[in-house]
Amino acid sequence: MKILGLLGSPRQGNTALLLSRLLEGASSCGANTISYDLTRLDIKPCTHCDACLENGQCNIDDDMQVLYRELESADVVVLASPLHFMSVTAQTKGFIDRCQSIWVRKYILGREPLGSGRQRKGIFISVGGREGKRLFDSARVTVKALFASLDVDYTGELLFAGIDEAGDITNHPSALDEAFQTGVCLAESQS
Ligand SMILES: Cc1cc2nc3c(=O)[nH]c(=O)nc-3n(C[C@H](O)[C@H](O)[C@H](O)COP(=O)(O)O)c2cc1C
Repeated sequence: MKILGLLGSPRQGNTALLLSRLLEGASSCGANTISYDLTRLDIKPCTHCDACLENGQCNIDDDMQVLYRELESADVVVLASPLHFMSVTAQTKGFIDRCQSIWVRKYILGREPLGSGRQRKGIFISVGGREGKRLFDSARVTVKALFASLDVDYTGELLFAGIDEAGDITNHPSALDEAFQTGVCLAESQS
């Protein structure tokens, strides 16, 4: 059972802490975990060249080629991005846009987008500095669209408002425990 963590924050802050606690929880139950920092990878923006319409492959030769393979071999995808202007960060959105070739596999070519017929789960982690009932609505819609394209079930979310300074999440009464427990539950549900 493999859990793929994708970090979209440009700093080692709150979402990074939440993601690592989730992965720690999962590995404490025997899951294989691997994570990538999207902000440190070479991920060029989608150019809408439409080359992927041919075969569902993106022909831009950069670090996304590694992530395509990681997505295909993952059982769980955990996407962690703070809010930047009410949505995911630019780096996260860059990654999402490059999943257009996988969208093509499913919606144009009628294929299983990530192959192999396994049931994949997805978790969205986010924080925002502001408060508000609808704070995460826009980001959630984007992440749900991504997961749907990948045939990844939107299984859960860890969303915390009012978290602004790097490390604020450590003062939250339950957030890091919730993240750890989410990892435990994911690992146990797949074993
Ligand atoms: C460019 C930028 C845009 C932001 N936009 C929002 C926003 O729209 N809503 C919000 O609640 N917080 C916003 N924030 C605050 C971050 O979401 C907040 O500081 C968060 O804790 C950062 O998470 P991190 O430590 O994981 O990077 C923004 C921060 C930056 C740098």
